[in-house]
Amino acid sequence: MSTSATPAMRQYLDAKQQHRDAIMFFRMGDFYEMFYEDALVASRALELTLTSRSKDAAGGAVPMCGVPFHAVDGYIARLVKKGFRVAICDQVEDPRKAKGIVKREVVRVVSPGTLTDAGYLDAREPAFLMAVTVVGGDLWGAALLDLSTGAFTAAEYAGRDGVQALADEIATLKPREIVAPTGLDLATPLPAIATSGVPVTPIDAWMFDVESARRSLVEQLRTAGLAGFGLDGHPAAVAAAGALVQHLRGMQKAELAHVRAITYRQRTDALTIDPTTLRHLEIVDGAEGGRKGSLLDEIDVTVTAMGSRMLRSWLLAPLVAVEPIRGRLDAVEALTTSATVRGTFREAMKAVQDLERLIARVALGTAGPRDFAGLQQSLSAAPRIRTSLAEVQSALVGSLVAEIDDLADVRHTIEAAIVDEPPALTRDGGFVRDGVDRELDDLRAISRSGKQVIAEMEARERVRTGIGSLKVRYNRVFGYYIEISKSNLGAVPSDYHRKQTIAGGERFITPALKEYEEKVLGADERILERELEIFDELGGKVAAEAPRIQTTSRALATLDVLAALAQAAAVGNYVKPHVHDGDDLVVLDGRHPVVERRTAAAGSPFVPNDVSLNGTTSQIVILTGPNMGGKSTYLRQTALLVIMAQAGSFVPAREARVPIVDRIFARVGAIDDIARGHSTFMVEMQETASILHHATSRSLVVLDEIGRGTATFDGLSIAWAVAEHLATNPTARPKTLFATHYHEMTDLADATPGVVNFHVSAREWKDDIIFLRKIVPGRSDRSYGIQVARLAGLPRTVVDRAREILSALERDELGRGGRPSMSATETDPQMQLGLFRSAPVADPLRERLASIDVDRMTPLDALALLAEIKKEAAE
Ligand SMILES: Nc1ncnc2c1ncn2[C@@H]1O[C@H](COP(=O)(O)OP(=O)(O)OP(=O)(O)O)[C@@H](O)[C@H]1O
Ligand SMILES: [Mg+2]
Repeated sequence: MSTSATPAMRQYLDAKQQHRDAIMFFRMGDFYEMFYEDALVASRALELTLTSRSKDAAGGAVPMCGVPFHAVDGYIARLVKKGFRVAICDQVEDPRKAKGIVKREVVRVVSPGTLTDAGYLDAREPAFLMAVTVVGGDLWGAALLDLSTGAFTAAEYAGRDGVQALADEIATLKPREIVAPTGLDLATPLPAIATSGVPVTPIDAWMFDVESARRSLVEQLRTAGLAGFGLDGHPAAVAAAGALVQHLRGMQKAELAHVRAITYRQRTDALTIDPTTLRHLEIVDGAEGGRKGSLLDEIDVTVTAMGSRMLRSWLLAPLVAVEPIRGRLDAVEALTTSATVRGTFREAMKAVQDLERLIARVALGTAGPRDFAGLQQSLSAAPRIRTSLAEVQSALVGSLVAEIDDLADVRHTIEAAIVDEPPALTRDGGFVRDGVDRELDDLRAISRSGKQVIAEMEARERVRTGIGSLKVRYNRVFGYYIEISKSNLGAVPSDYHRKQTIAGGERFITPALKEYEEKVLGADERILERELEIFDELGGKVAAEAPRIQTTSRALATLDVLAALAQAAAVGNYVKPHVHDGDDLVVLDGRHPVVERRTAAAGSPFVPNDVSLNGTTSQIVILTGPNMGGKSTYLRQTALLVIMAQAGSFVPAREARVPIVDRIFARVGAIDDIARGHSTFMVEMQETASILHHATSRSLVVLDEIGRGTATFDGLSIAWAVAEHLATNPTARPKTLFATHYHEMTDLADATPGVVNFHVSAREWKDDIIFLRKIVPGRSDRSYGIQVARLAGLPRTVVDRAREILSALERDELGRGGRPSMSATETDPQMQLGLFRSAPVADPLRERLASIDVDRMTPLDALALLAEIKKEAAE
């Protein structure tokens, strides 16, 4: 640092020293300025004009750019969304009262995981910041905090499987940012972090020290110990959680009054849905990436954003215990019985804003006057909401209703202080009611009377000077002044002091005017100061009640979800599933909730289908049938139905008995993973491997065309072996639906108990195929691929040629090496029909012999063929 730098610049460099990894927004007057490298980076990212400030000590120009202070939030959010961190260095004393240079301090650091600005967050998704650490070499701990709501959890992961589970959680929960101890290598054990692009911020390793982490956690949660949160005996979880709060308190310079509880998450608490399955089943994201087309999108008719976030979390982690699931289902059932009750409740809920995020903003000190008004209005809906549900016969609904606290005290505190229609921003002033504070009232009276005097002055001066167009005006530069037009300048009295000449005339001031101006402006300034003081005090009072407000918000959100599920059930004609601890998965007339809507919109009804799976007689269903027949849809709908049931939702079926499932594995369709440098087949095999390793007898596995990404025989062999393994492995025989075009696989059922064949029915009509989409017992022996290809618009000539080849293959014309011979036909179109023409005698062996081109065979090929023909003859 140079000694000849200006004092402000020295201050800048000092602050920057502490926050090298962040772009520094340095407050100067009405602007936030950025300098040096920060200016270069930010000007590019935000498309700001780059200027330069007078030379630095070395004589070089200092690059600089800036944004107006009142628009700063938008710029911060844009930078953070691009992955940058922003440190806000503010003036922390009044510039007019400062002796020497005004004091500045970094008041907040905003990073991707701590962006809580409502305008830049998706209201229906959480915004997690995650801390990851490892204790004793192989015990991983992770803590997850949504700063925008205060939701806080921690978990531990041990061993190789643990690391995989952690990687899966990262992929599923999509934290915005991960903090980890400096020097901890995450990339090697968790390569998924790099591919997912989530930024990792190294923070001081000592924060993760278990003892100091425990201390900061205890302090934050205001408890004596951590046993009440289930954290005892989980040092890695404690380390991660403690470091996270420590780090955040430093960054936010706030109490985090909305973070007063934490939940220890056990992996066995929820139905595990790994990221691949999540993607394949399109549970929260549709095929195109967004929400559209997903299960969530289909059933999310929640009224509030809180409810929407909660429903999302329910689908990501369905329950695995019968009782709580039945509790939810009973509540949904009770809410389906009366459309009027449901309607009244949902109408009342419309008055409830995003309470979770409102209280978080209050606790973080970023709430504006309107947020308080929103809080108060939302709370005032509570009595109506409670009454609307009074008649609902459900234990869960009853206990949730009992948890709704009117918070009349909080409501009155806000109501008493804040005007009915406050401005959005505190700097606009005028949000504190009259009568709240003596000093404020007095100041307002002074300001008002001063303004009154000034207004009267205008009338008086008009009379005195005889200038009818004389006006008293105000601007920020001059304060109050008298404006006189050109033609009247002759009549200006001598006690007017000229301040400025403008196009149409001149501006003057008088001593009397300035005297009142001082009074008015002094009062106005102090009014705003006083309002802010009162506002801060109010914020403190409300933030102290954060836990109560959060309990009520959670109850309201839960009720919103239950009513939404009831609404979705009523609209979609879903039924209550019977969830049980037994073994049978039985569905009558099941439907796919999303495809059903799509086909209905296209005017063709969805064909419902039954499912019957159990651990004994019908453990694996081998499903064959035509392309486009509905196999994949059937597989997906079965998995979705189980997820819906365990999440507490009704299901699209006529009847359903759902056993508690511990994990769902779905491999439906291929997804390339070029980013990770793996081919389609490689990914498919990795996913299959993971299923074989992790599935238990309580799992549900749906496999769609495993093995199709390689040569036919390899694929068939793999598919067969996989199915066989799932059917015979004594330690884990998961319920499995297995769709395939390898018709040979239907033979598995002959020899293996528990394996049964089903197929999707279709009928041939002339040259066409009619899809019946009914799943019926037995095998199918054809895929009708060519008919489907024709429907898809493959050129006529290609379709015809495919037919020829197919019939040849079906007659098993073999060429060199015992393979179907097609190459010869390519050289001579005239030969095509000849080559494939039926042999005069319908004897396959003879046909085969006739087709052999002895001249072009190696002795080895000939021998191999001979062996094969002998085998065939022997059959
Ligand atoms: N039960 C059903 N009722 C009505 N339409 C259906 C049904 N099942 C599937 N469909 C329609 O048929 C289309 C194809 O279904 P799906 O992808 O499940 O066929 P598939 O048998 O898996 O075909 P492929 O073998 O080519 O993968 C779906 O997109 C949907 O529009
Ligand atoms: Mg399919």
